[in-house]
Amino acid sequence: MKLRGNKSLKGETFIPGDKSISHRAIIIGSIAVGRTKIENCLLSDDTLKSIDILRKLGVDIKVDEKSNTVVIEGVGLKGLKESDEDLYCGNSGTTMRLFAGLLSGQSFSSKLTGDDSLSNRPMDRVTKPLRQMGANIADNNSLAPIIISPGEIKPIDYKMEVASAQVKSAILLSSLYGEGKFKVTEKYKTRNHTELMLEYFGADIHCNDLEISINNPNRLISKDIKVPGDISSAAFIIAAGLITKDSDIIIENVGLNTTRTGIISVLSEMGAIIKVLGIDDTNVEKSGTLNVMESFLHGITIEGEKTASVIDEIPIISVLACYAQGNTVIKDAQELRIKESDRLLAIYEGLSAMGADIELTNDGLIIRGRGKLKGAEVSSKGDHRIAMALSIAALAAEGTTTIDDVSCINVSYPNFYNDIGQLIDNNFEK
Ligand code: S3P
Repeated sequence: MKLRGNKSLKGETFIPGDKSISHRAIIIGSIAVGRTKIENCLLSDDTLKSIDILRKLGVDIKVDEKSNTVVIEGVGLKGLKESDEDLYCGNSGTTMRLFAGLLSGQSFSSKLTGDDSLSNRPMDRVTKPLRQMGANIADNNSLAPIIISPGEIKPIDYKMEVASAQVKSAILLSSLYGEGKFKVTEKYKTRNHTELMLEYFGADIHCNDLEISINNPNRLISKDIKVPGDISSAAFIIAAGLITKDSDIIIENVGLNTTRTGIISVLSEMGAIIKVLGIDDTNVEKSGTLNVMESFLHGITIEGEKTASVIDEIPIISVLACYAQGNTVIKDAQELRIKESDRLLAIYEGLSAMGADIELTNDGLIIRGRGKLKGAEVSSKGDHRIAMALSIAALAAEGTTTIDDVSCINVSYPNFYNDIGQLIDNNFEK
């Protein structure tokens, strides 16, 4: 993909469904009793993996790609059936970890597999608590495939070692197959979509800051859902509006769950002009319309809980830091080394090639903002968020940037280039 820089953005765009919420709606709708209709469901490579797997487990799921609507005939908690095929999760960590939880309480065996990237990501963070709950998971050096045999799920009071919504969600989904009170205590507050969705479907779940408890058995009753747009996808559009000359854009349908809006706080702290124009509070999760304008940004320090609150947005924040004045210091981001790629290394290499003054540390990056970047040949490392972050870097850079592989963007935002292209009022070369 070749991208020419120095663009300006104007107009309105509508953000596609949130990836995390779509996965949860698909999974929880499948084990509820009755029909669930999901509107504005994200239909991307990742979420389609969750749909494929549930179909293999005997769930009837209809997908209308034109309207992004999914209709699920829920089979109830005990209604999933054994698959004689492997359950392929592709590149999707959320699929593998959430299904590890869901399948550990079934009366049949399952094997979860993934692509090369996913097969090298740590799975002990989910298999450890699940085994403590009684799950019968084969030992595979903490890596995929995850092979699960029937086990008896028992209550747990688990203190999380990493800040991870995927681990928390695996425990909560597994708990649905045991009896008694299950408790999880988080290290930092992470996205709470599983908790909200379970509550929406009628589960007896209670959240008190970092503590979540669920009393089982539960019966989940189907409900229709409208998925708000993905703020992590919106972050790329927001960033483009902030660093491109004279930009002024409206971004509709941005999910505003407070466990995800860390990106708005961080960008505001950097000097971004982001206005919330209207809020829709009528669905299971809040959404709103944002107005973003070209802004004068300055560097900040991001560490601890703040880093955890923007874990998926660090690549695009790093791009913005290059266009800001002063130093941006990102610490406590070692989790980024075990995402779809080593994101610290990938962003360091990409932005270095584009002329950034950037330093790689064990757990983060130090970026000395120079207010500009130049076009270069860069690699996405097959990682969707790196491909999109470097594409936005290219939009405001001098000259042309070539990114080796952008097909990975289909993992979370298949319409990314179309949506950006429509906001660009001058020529955008693809
Ligand atoms: C996700 C949780 C986060 C995030 C990922 C999606 C989820 O991962 O990075 O993109 O849907 O639960 P961790 O739980 O590993 O932090």
